[in-house]
Amino acid sequence: MSITEIHVERGNIRNIKAHTGDAQPLADGAARLQIEGFALTANNVTYAATGEVIGYWKFFPTDDPATGIVPVWGFARVIESRSAHLEVGQRLYGFFPMASHLDITPEPRGANVVIDAAPHRRDLPPVYNAYTRAGASDAADDALKSIFYPLLLTSYLLFDFLKDNDWFKAEQIIISSASSKTGLGLCKYLAEARPDGPRVIGLTSKGNRAFVQGLDACDQIATYGAFEQEIAQIPSVYVDMAGNADIRGRLHHHLGENMLHSAAVGTSHWDKFEPTGDLPGARPRFFFAPSQVEKRRADWGPGQIEKRLEGAWRRVAQDSLDWMKIEISQGLSSAIPIYTEIANGKTTPDTGHYIEL
Ligand SMILES: NC(=O)c1ccc[n+]([C@@H]2O[C@H](COP(=O)([O-])OP(=O)(O)OC[C@H]3O[C@@H](n4cnc5c(N)ncnc54)[C@H](OP(=O)(O)O)[C@@H]3O)[C@@H](O)[C@H]2O)c1
Repeated sequence: MSITEIHVERGNIRNIKAHTGDAQPLADGAARLQIEGFALTANNVTYAATGEVIGYWKFFPTDDPATGIVPVWGFARVIESRSAHLEVGQRLYGFFPMASHLDITPEPRGANVVIDAAPHRRDLPPVYNAYTRAGASDAADDALKSIFYPLLLTSYLLFDFLKDNDWFKAEQIIISSASSKTGLGLCKYLAEARPDGPRVIGLTSKGNRAFVQGLDACDQIATYGAFEQEIAQIPSVYVDMAGNADIRGRLHHHLGENMLHSAAVGTSHWDKFEPTGDLPGARPRFFFAPSQVEKRRADWGPGQIEKRLEGAWRRVAQDSLDWMKIEISQGLSSAIPIYTEIANGKTTPDTGHYIEL
């Protein structure tokens, strides 16, 4: 049996190619998963761009340290098992390599979840090591969950974090890469909360302005080229999905001490990212979604934040059928041109990509 993996050059993440080799015999205690499908968005390119700093290359190492495998969210089926904890035929949702197969060492965590207890993943964030048992396959549902679930959980937790902090006393919230699924998810949750909350400004590129406008979730749209003329100098929060150093610097200088909180969330403009030097206003702070989950578990008791997250992602994913078309591509190798398109900023925000293997 052969296994195909998509390898990316760690020093030049635009260099991507398929690599096929023979499968090794399955280790005792392990299960072999055949990957059935996964989504591709800017989030996956961010995993590659931050692979060294945040450690995303550590999940699915290759034999060559100069290459790595980009993680993706999707579905897989157990095709062979030498573990008492996972039976052949079981489908799983979770964090997979861009590859045809993955061997994991399953350990149960409750009735519905197994974690991969492989030694190289032991010290990595637990949220990425958990695999949830899934029911029968349905192409449209699988695509929606793979595209939206990991993104909208962050959008909702950001919304909850801002609200929990009384909006940092701001009068406006500015969201860059407002056309991204994570950005527009936040705009949607803020819109749901109206009249509570500050005004929402979606910051985007000129070409995506009409798309963000059409979503009708922002009070105002501003564009990267001209926002100094468009954004009022009043108490503000910045939620940075773009990670573009020039935009962040200009916005901090424009707002000065009116920048009350600056949340670093994404780097969709990954090739324009630079670490923050000294800037006027609040110092940019990395938003770590699992901390907000922990806080709400303590505030509300077990299961409550999970219930809200489940409702929240489903609402926006359902709503997306009005503004996003799902494009299903066939075969692992179809991921290569799509990844390249996203890495080069060439995809349109009204498309959600799902690769079916
Ligand atoms: N920290 C977390 O926990 C967390 C969780 C989820 C997502 N995120 C991050 O949020 C960001 C958005 O992810 P997503 O999957 O929601 O994105 P997406 O839906 O694929 O968004 C695409 C948008 O990103 C911008 N973009 C993408 N590639 C670009 C490029 N090469 N050059 C310039 N602009 C580009 C464009 O928006 P504009 O024209 O509007 O800029 C584009 O419409 C990613 O960086 C992701 O890692 C972080």
